[in-house]
Amino acid sequence: MLDNIAALRQAIEADLATINDLDSAEAFRLKHLVKKGSLNALTQEFKAVPREEKAAVGKALNELKNWVTESFDAAMQAFKREADDAQTVDVTLPGRRPYIGAQHPTNAMIREITRIFSALGFDAAEGPEIEDEKHNFDDLNFPPNHPARDMQDTFFVKDENRNLVLRTHTSPVQIRLMQSRKPPIRCIVPGRVYRNEATDATHLAEFHQVEGLYVDRKVSMADLKGTLYTFFSELFQDPSLKFRLRPSFFPFTEPSAEVDVFVDDARGARWIELAGCGMVHPNVLRNCDIDPEEYSGFAFGFGIERLIMPRRKITDIRMLYENDIRVLHQLT
Ligand code: PHE
Repeated sequence: MLDNIAALRQAIEADLATINDLDSAEAFRLKHLVKKGSLNALTQEFKAVPREEKAAVGKALNELKNWVTESFDAAMQAFKREADDAQTVDVTLPGRRPYIGAQHPTNAMIREITRIFSALGFDAAEGPEIEDEKHNFDDLNFPPNHPARDMQDTFFVKDENRNLVLRTHTSPVQIRLMQSRKPPIRCIVPGRVYRNEATDATHLAEFHQVEGLYVDRKVSMADLKGTLYTFFSELFQDPSLKFRLRPSFFPFTEPSAEVDVFVDDARGARWIELAGCGMVHPNVLRNCDIDPEEYSGFAFGFGIERLIMPRRKITDIRMLYENDIRVLHQLT
């Protein structure tokens, strides 16, 4: 029996040396390690070993088994490593580019807008996103209980002492600016706004606007038009941009207008509405202790996502906030 053990060990040693791929390893396993393999066959013979030899033979048999499993594992590891090494070095493959961070399209657009307006003498300010109704509506000349408040699908915030809302537009910051600064005031306000709207390809309940405000002596509608024209033709990189003001209504401006810009792209030639604007209503100036006889001002406001979409050829506004890396890693 001891001789048989030694003989099998020799045979196995020879077979181990042939393991160099998955097929040869599998052949080895089937020959020696499975139930019907050589090791088990030898173990069967152990029953017939005379009592007095059992201790020595058992020991030899166990040693053989341990040695085989260890050697087999070692052989497998060795050829796997070789295979891995062979695979990882393909010098003809192009290098893998690491993802580099990029500004979110919304932040990039806010920066660009801020840059253009800063060249026109506007500085940038911010205001709270949770706003009281006084700033969001009352001081902006929305009459109490007037349907114009519903026009903006307000999210109301529960609070026992104050009537709070998620601001529906950036216009309340006009009030904050005029109450805290003295004219001349020339400021833009980028920021997040909220409306209780069903979301679809062109609407989000949470989006961004930029407000603009200019208050000084003798500010006129012509200043408003010139400022917006300069801004949009710079933004669209088109010095002969087609642009028009269309009469409209906002409680906080009089007269009021919508700003349309003419675009001609893959989706056809058309006017698109990009902003609301107007001359600051005398009541609004008065609410901020600014004398409308002495000062006048213009204001405008527009949605930022609406500007990003044609620029990035995004047709569904929701794509901007789904954090899809393919959208996010695009550089401006
Ligand atoms: N706040 C208006 C809106 O959200 C836009 C606007 C701003 C209009 C300033 C006129 C002046 O639709």
